Amino acid sequence: MNQSAYEAGNEQTDSSLILAIETSCDETSASVIRGGKHILSNIVSSQIEIHERYGGVVPEIASRKHVESITLIIEQAVKESGFSLKDMSAIAVTQGPGLVGALLVGIVAAKSLSMALDIPLIGTHHIAGHIYANELVHDIVYPCMALVVSGGHTELVLLESEGNFQVVGRTRDDAVGEAYDKVARALRLPYPGGPHIDKLAMEAEESTVLPRAWLEAGSYDFSFSGLKSAVLAVINQTRMKGLVLDEAALARGFQESVTEVLVTKALRAVRQYGAKQLLLCGGVAANRGLRAALAARCEAEKVPLLIPPHTLCTDNAAMIGAAAHLKLKRQQFTDLDMKADPGFSLESWSVSPFSKK
Ligand code: KG4
Ligand code: ZN
Repeated sequence: MNQSAYEAGNEQTDSSLILAIETSCDETSASVIRGGKHILSNIVSSQIEIHERYGGVVPEIASRKHVESITLIIEQAVKESGFSLKDMSAIAVTQGPGLVGALLVGIVAAKSLSMALDIPLIGTHHIAGHIYANELVHDIVYPCMALVVSGGHTELVLLESEGNFQVVGRTRDDAVGEAYDKVARALRLPYPGGPHIDKLAMEAEESTVLPRAWLEAGSYDFSFSGLKSAVLAVINQTRMKGLVLDEAALARGFQESVTEVLVTKALRAVRQYGAKQLLLCGGVAANRGLRAALAARCEAEKVPLLIPPHTLCTDNAAMIGAAAHLKLKRQQFTDLDMKADPGFSLESWSVSPFSKK
């Protein structure tokens, strides 16, 4: 095995190199990460333009596009890093959750490289990647709380210690990004709709009053399908009555409802679990309303808030490399018979306690 892998985990001497691959949804991405923290390359090829005309990701098309571009993207990432494939300490790949056909493309590529070059494989959890994107730009302090908001996930995750994940709340129906995309579609806005709703909401002068889904007292779970239905009801009633819909006011009302629930529950969880930091991650972390409201509440309550830059919030392979480093440090590798796991549990991916030799 590459010498650098043995030194992984030692802050001073960690020159480990991870080639990370991400193909769980509609981005084909490859990245090389040094020492778990330094991005040497992070190539992301988005399929948004292809899926835009269908109003959402078409799984079969996503897989085909991944197949077309994966080899080139990996080559480009390795070349840009200034190293070569044989220098890699490990090959990391998203094992799940995600679209099974899309995941398989990255997994087959990673396994082939791992086998041909005799480099260890690290099957990596996509949400752990979103959380550890923060490690690429900040220093995480434990215990901390992560608010994961993406197109497929809405979760509050407690990290008592490095690499140990405990999901304390999750959505019972739609993910936040999914709700944004569905509301945008009803307003005939392009896919993905999140940024369009965000823009409309920021420009609005009025705000449509919409419900908040708090669920049972003390619950950290979320639900956005009722809110989405309330938005659709406003749209339908306005159109049926032949009235002009104030789309901006509706977008703002929707964004305020989503934001208030997310911010309130996240800060309550921070207090209850004694978290020293709040980490925001996932594609919806780009939302200006959410960022502003969280920043204001965190400042008022003196809770440090970590948010990765936008390019590391949306799907990318650098975040997969950052998470995989947790396993490389502990020499916890994945067998070559590993399978794509569309429903991969985050808690099961936790590292075992770290024992320093
Ligand atoms: O994390 P991500 O890139 O992919 C998944 O793993 O799901 O998240 C994509 C989601 C989409 O639903 C998109 O509409 C949403 O993030 N999004 C936003 C914004 N930018 C992206 N949602 C709200 N406001 C935004 N500014
Ligand atoms: Zn994602």
